[in-house]
Amino acid sequence: MRTRNLGTTGPAVSALGLGCMGMSALYGDADRAESVATIHAALEAGVTLLDTGDFYAMGHNEMLIGEALRGAPAALREKALTSVKFGALRDPAGNWSGYDGRPAAVRNFAAYSLQRLGVDHIDVYRIARLDPDVPIEETVGAIAELIEKGYVRHIGLSEVGAETIRRAAATAPIADLQIEYSLISRGIEQDILPTTRELGIAVTAYGVLSRGLISGHFTQDRRLAASDFRAHSPRFQGENLQHNLNLVEALRKIAQQKGVTVAQTAIAWVLSRGEDIVPLVGARTRERLGESLGALDVTLEAADLAAIEEAVPADAAAGDRYPSAQMAHLDSER
Ligand SMILES: NC(=O)c1ccc[n+]([C@@H]2O[C@H](COP(=O)([O-])OP(=O)(O)OC[C@H]3O[C@@H](n4cnc5c(N)ncnc54)[C@H](OP(=O)(O)O)[C@@H]3O)[C@@H](O)[C@H]2O)c1
Repeated sequence: MRTRNLGTTGPAVSALGLGCMGMSALYGDADRAESVATIHAALEAGVTLLDTGDFYAMGHNEMLIGEALRGAPAALREKALTSVKFGALRDPAGNWSGYDGRPAAVRNFAAYSLQRLGVDHIDVYRIARLDPDVPIEETVGAIAELIEKGYVRHIGLSEVGAETIRRAAATAPIADLQIEYSLISRGIEQDILPTTRELGIAVTAYGVLSRGLISGHFTQDRRLAASDFRAHSPRFQGENLQHNLNLVEALRKIAQQKGVTVAQTAIAWVLSRGEDIVPLVGARTRERLGESLGALDVTLEAADLAAIEEAVPADAAAGDRYPSAQMAHLDSER
């Protein structure tokens, strides 16, 4: 497994990370045994970075990862690095009710996450969205104190813009920024990526398949449960969906010429954007994991990259990447 560094201050991690969110929430039903088997298969293949959030089904995802880590051979468990997001507030019905980045809340969230994961430290800890009522310096400062006490190893950021990145980095060393980046979500290229590069901060890219939309497996007639994120995502609605799936068909032609899959092409494109970028793939079955890992063997030559850019130009997608209420929480979109 190739590795990439999480910034100038973070650890070396596998070139692909495993995002575990869909094993608990937001993409419809998942199979627990298959989820655990997928985490084990990822660790066996050399994946070291496991990403989660304490709010993914209210702790469910962390407990799932904890179970998988306990059941893994010690040699693999010791290599696994946990990347945890906190701060999102839920209610018992699963509704979302804002963010909390106060230092006391940070310590509280961390205490629960350590228990649920069954670990003595979290490798990378980050607030999922900027709390507009708490300066980022206070939230990051609280994580820095957790590092001093040995409960956390590195500080990450999530979905914040250039100004917040600079303020955070002036407070404490930042390993990575987690943010959406794919062939059809290229907003970071203008200000955010130049800023992380200037400051020696890596990007852990999520949504590299745009939540399955550009995986080559999503179809117009797919039925989605009301709890599925995609049932409310602008990119998956009506004419937007048809437009976006037409882009996927253009990408499929290039993938077929190279003898690889659409998902592998989309992941390989993100991998090709720089050694500082680590795609987090949202595989939740061993089959999808195997397909994703195949992207590591895909070399995109200059001619391939040009053909991909022509098939899926930047800004070609129809629809925002989040519903408007959630877009409003994105410091990265200001
Ligand atoms: N910081 C943030 O704000 C934030 C936001 C969202 C996610 N994340 C993190 O990033 C991770 C990845 O995001 P994501 O899950 O949205 O990413 P993704 O990889 O773009 O989407 C995953 C979806 O793609 C489908 N898929 C189809 N083929 C696939 C393949 N070969 N490999 C993997 N998935 C395939 C899966 O569907 P099937 O399982 O139905 O096949 C799944 O629904 C999450 O798990 C989470 O840890 C962070």
